[in-house]
Amino acid sequence: MTDHKENVRELITAGGKTPLCFLHSFGCRQNVSDGEKILGSLCSIGYGVTDDITAADLIIYNTCAVREGAELKVYSLVGNLKNLKKKKPELIIGLCGCMAQQEKTVEKIKRSYPYVDMVFGTFALEKLPELLYKVLTERKQAVDINEYSTGFPEDIRPVRTDKFNASIPIMYGCNNFCSYCIVPYVRGRERSRRPEAVINEVKELVGSGCKEIMLLGQNVNSYGSTLEDKINFSGLLRMINDIEGDFRVRFMSSHPKDATNELIDTIIDCDKICKHLHLPLQSGSDRILSAMNRKYTSGKYMEIVDHARSRIPDFSFSTDIIIGFPNETAEDFADTMKIVRQVKYDNIFSFIYSKRTGTKAADMEDATSDEEKRSRMKELLEVQREISSEGFRRFIGRTLTVLFDSDDGDGMFSGKSDEFIIVKAEADSSVIGKVKKVRITKSFNWALQGEII
Ligand code: SAH
Ligand code: SF4
Ligand code: F3S
Repeated sequence: MTDHKENVRELITAGGKTPLCFLHSFGCRQNVSDGEKILGSLCSIGYGVTDDITAADLIIYNTCAVREGAELKVYSLVGNLKNLKKKKPELIIGLCGCMAQQEKTVEKIKRSYPYVDMVFGTFALEKLPELLYKVLTERKQAVDINEYSTGFPEDIRPVRTDKFNASIPIMYGCNNFCSYCIVPYVRGRERSRRPEAVINEVKELVGSGCKEIMLLGQNVNSYGSTLEDKINFSGLLRMINDIEGDFRVRFMSSHPKDATNELIDTIIDCDKICKHLHLPLQSGSDRILSAMNRKYTSGKYMEIVDHARSRIPDFSFSTDIIIGFPNETAEDFADTMKIVRQVKYDNIFSFIYSKRTGTKAADMEDATSDEEKRSRMKELLEVQREISSEGFRRFIGRTLTVLFDSDDGDGMFSGKSDEFIIVKAEADSSVIGKVKKVRITKSFNWALQGEII
């Protein structure tokens, strides 16, 4: 078998200098995590990493396809590279990730951006050395969007940029086919990673000083369904909770159709699991939920919320909401607002529906005007601002656990609490990467402020 890695290393280091790569990941934490693996692969070949795009010998955009806006942004950035490539013909430009996995993207790149050297999809991480070899030796566009693996790129060690905060994919792909969503088409079928592989990675990270671990999957609640091991997500959480060390655990995303009281009880009973659940609602209208193929009703959703609140009365929830799904009526939107007011989320990520070619919803006629959608979005944001600013007041006088990760200037530092809320406090730079108890003294509608105890 040809050792593409060694061959590429010889070619790129022939001049005696360390070649540099620049990578930017768009989209969700899963994609960012893939980006860390791509960097890992490049570093193992001999590349150094730079965040100065003009200094790079290899530029890779790791793309997202979830909404049209994400795709347009990438095309505009790739367009901007044309001049750089003209000045520096030996520059290699690559496009990968979810957007690259689509046939229509490959066609458009071939047609309009011929100076892009490589296009590879979400299954081809392990093929990167081979692709690079092709580009370096043949100097023509290399494309690989085959759906190879049903497994994981376990052998690539990620290069992580954050020492204290790490993501670990516990599963890949998605089988849910929500009617609006492109993810199942670009990430393939759901597959879970073996629990030992996950546990070992957590142990290694904790051993190297990591304080917060985010477990990733498109629907972590169906973790284990493709494994021979008899384990579900709650079981995995309990195993991780038993690992010794000073760290906390979060996860996303949790599909309401598979969320159980067992999950809520596990979160509440395990001391290392953050007491917060991101539970994407998408819509509060049962008619729309059914058209979205979400497989739960607003009633089932509220049962989960009620169970959590029966144990912790102000248990923290956040959510994703899509505004303007095809033919969403004023009544449907009112149903969404009803749930928003009932749950009192600490945070909402809201998106205007974006038509994705190839999905079921793309064929649905849509009579709702863009203006109406924008006005609903505005209303949702206004109501949520009030809810979170009122909700955040409940923390005044309480002590929260905060992992500090950012220097905001003027002696102020901030980080996230267990509840995933931004907390600010006066400190010095030694606080970065530390977990501190903070007594909350002030609340804003987007953050809290307090004093480190
Ligand atoms: N697997 C996760 C979601 C991944 S996509 C889950 O099921 O929760 C992240 C969010 O993007 C979704 O929750 C949804 O709110 C939003 N989204 C997905 N497709 C979209 C589309 N076509 N238009 C607008 N928002 C979309
Ligand atoms: Fe998309 Fe639904 Fe899968 Fe989430 S669960 S990735 S929204 S299809
Ligand atoms: Fe994530 Fe975007 Fe792909 S949200 S899974 S990077 S389409």
